[in-house]
Amino acid sequence: MFPATRLRRTRQADWSRRLVRETALSPNDLIWSVVVSDTADPAEPVAAMPGVDRLSLSALAKAAREAEALGIPALAIFPHIDPAKKNDEGSEALNPDGLVPNAIRTVKDAAPNLGVICDVALDPFTTHGHDGILDGERIANDETVERLIAQALVQAEAGCDIVAPSDMMDGRIGAIREALEGADFKDTMILSYAAKYASGFYGPYREAIGSAAALTGDKQTYQMDPANRDEALREVELDIAEGADMVMVKPGLPYLDIVRALSDSFPVPVCAFQVSGEYAMIEAAAAKGWIDGERVMMESLLAFKRAGAAGIVTYFAPRAARLLNG
Ligand code: PBG
Repeated sequence: MFPATRLRRTRQADWSRRLVRETALSPNDLIWSVVVSDTADPAEPVAAMPGVDRLSLSALAKAAREAEALGIPALAIFPHIDPAKKNDEGSEALNPDGLVPNAIRTVKDAAPNLGVICDVALDPFTTHGHDGILDGERIANDETVERLIAQALVQAEAGCDIVAPSDMMDGRIGAIREALEGADFKDTMILSYAAKYASGFYGPYREAIGSAAALTGDKQTYQMDPANRDEALREVELDIAEGADMVMVKPGLPYLDIVRALSDSFPVPVCAFQVSGEYAMIEAAAAKGWIDGERVMMESLLAFKRAGAAGIVTYFAPRAARLLNG
């Protein structure tokens, strides 16, 4: 009771604030999301994401060495596919000599101790911009899962450490795990986008990978309803049972309650994705001089840690790591 208790006592000096600090952010917490392109030379800016470029493979190699030097554990690769290579079925996703397998090999050559994470989903490769195969208006679940298995195997074959299904089809984690075991990729990790919401915060990403113009309709029949929390627990329970090593919440900051609920409920690493729209909002307000961009960047990343995230996928990773490393 006041005045015996004055919570300001421990806040009075830098040393005492450091002493009682409950959460710390480190470069080890960061996963750098990078966009690669086979037409960028060497880098082309993404208009809605100032500071983010689509990278050529040689620019990617440089980024990989930079990430390793900064102590960032892993890169997450997202492809911008030449529109001429897209079709209804997204078959370029299964090309062992495609952009993603080449990007994986590029990173592994440049920085052998850096982890590589790849999205398993068809949207960068389909003319319609959906994550799966269409059957009329609907995304056909089981047919899509067959493709995702093949896509994950192509990635594992190229040296991907963590395959990360971001498509939200039912049953895909178990199917991919079984296929990986069967093909002797016993150590390939699966990071399941288990709680992925149908969100407006992905807008700039769709520009980044060139699927914005393509996308017909929305993704509400497969991605989660932003109104739901219990359903996220069910998704995660299933994905762990099916063989996921880690799970993802996406978007990030607007869904910190989900990060907290999952990290309290399951003894599995829970990652969170600070998505393109979150990045764009911070950058836009900072560019206007309305917020201190660097301070808000660090505060937002710390918030993920406080909510219980084991890893944070973010376009800010190199900038944040540079600050953290002093
Ligand atoms: C799709 C995918 C999306 C993102 C990553 N993978 C968008 C979507 O589901 O429409 C978004 C990433 C971001 O916004 O930064 N498989």
